[in-house]
Amino acid sequence: MADGRGELQVLDDPDQVRSAVRAARRQGKRVGCVPTMGALHEGHLSLIRAARAECDFVVVTIFVNPTQFGPNEDFDKYPRPLEADLAACRKEGVDVVFHPAVEAMYPAGSKTFVEVEGLSTIWEGACRPGHFRGVATIVTKLLNVTEPDVAYFGQKDYQQQLLIRQMCRDLLLPVRIRVCPTVREPDGLAMSSRNAYLSPEERRSALALSQALFLARDRLAQGERDLPAIRQAMRDHLESQPNVRVDYVTICHPETLEELEEPLPRMVALVAARVNETRLIDNLLLET
Ligand code: PAJ
Repeated sequence: MADGRGELQVLDDPDQVRSAVRAARRQGKRVGCVPTMGALHEGHLSLIRAARAECDFVVVTIFVNPTQFGPNEDFDKYPRPLEADLAACRKEGVDVVFHPAVEAMYPAGSKTFVEVEGLSTIWEGACRPGHFRGVATIVTKLLNVTEPDVAYFGQKDYQQQLLIRQMCRDLLLPVRIRVCPTVREPDGLAMSSRNAYLSPEERRSALALSQALFLARDRLAQGERDLPAIRQAMRDHLESQPNVRVDYVTICHPETLEELEEPLPRMVALVAARVNETRLIDNLLLET
C-alpha cells in the first residue's frame, strides 16, 4: 500500500494472532492493542488513533464477552455490526482484528477467573455483580493472546480502567496501560455503543448524565465546596428527566473511588442511570 502499511488481517484463532504479533515484534515493531466489544464509534476510534500514533503494529479485539454481562442484561441484543467495524478498522490502518468465537476465549470446562478485590465490588461492581470479574478475566486473556507493549482504554469506563491498571500491576503483566479521554457528542453525551438503543425522547433524557457532571464542575468552579449538596443537585437534575432512574451519583477519590465529604484537589464524579431499559454511565475528573 502507498502508506507502507499492510492489509488488515481478520483472525479468529488465538494462535494465529500470537504468530502475527510475534512476527511484527521480531521486526522491531512496537505493538498496541485496543480491546473492544465492537459497534465501533468515535470513542473507540480515538483509542485506535492513539495506538496508531504510538505503535507500529495495531491489534483491535472485537469480542462481546459473555462473562461480563449479568443474566438479565443485554448480551443477546448487544449490537454486532461486524462489517462496518472491519471497514472502520481498515480505514484507520489497523493491522489485525482479533474476532474470536466464545469457545476460543472460554475453552470448554474453563474454571479460571480473575478477581480484583475491592474495586470490583463498589459502584458499577455493586450494581452489576460479577461484571468486573468478567472484564478482568477477558482482558487478561486478550492481553495473553495479543502480548502488546501498550494497551488502550477509555476514561469513559473510569472504574474499569482503574481496575485494569490495578490488575496489571498485581499480576506483573508486561504491558503499559494508556487511558484516553472520553469522546462526547457535540451536545455532551458520552459516546457509547448502547446509545444506539435510545429513542429520540430517551436520547434527550440521556443528556442529563453529562449535564449532571458539568453541573458539578460548574458549582465547584463557582466556589461551592459542599459535596453532599452538589451530589444532591446532580441527582435532582437526573431525576427531573422523563424515564430516568439513577443507580448512583457520587463524587469520589480518583484512585480508591471512596466517596468524599470534603473536596480534594483532584476528584472524580461518577454517574450511572437507566433511561427506560438502557443503562448508561459517565464520569468527569474534577479539580478544585
Ligand atoms: P467497549 O464498551 O466496547 O469499550 C472498548 C473501549 O473503548 C473501552 O476502553 C472504553 O472505555 C472505550 N470507550 C468507550 N466509549 C468511549 C468514549 N466515548 N470515549 C473514549 N473511550 C471510550 O469496555 C469494553 O468494551 C469491555 O469491557 C472490554 C474492555 C473490551 C472487555 O470486554
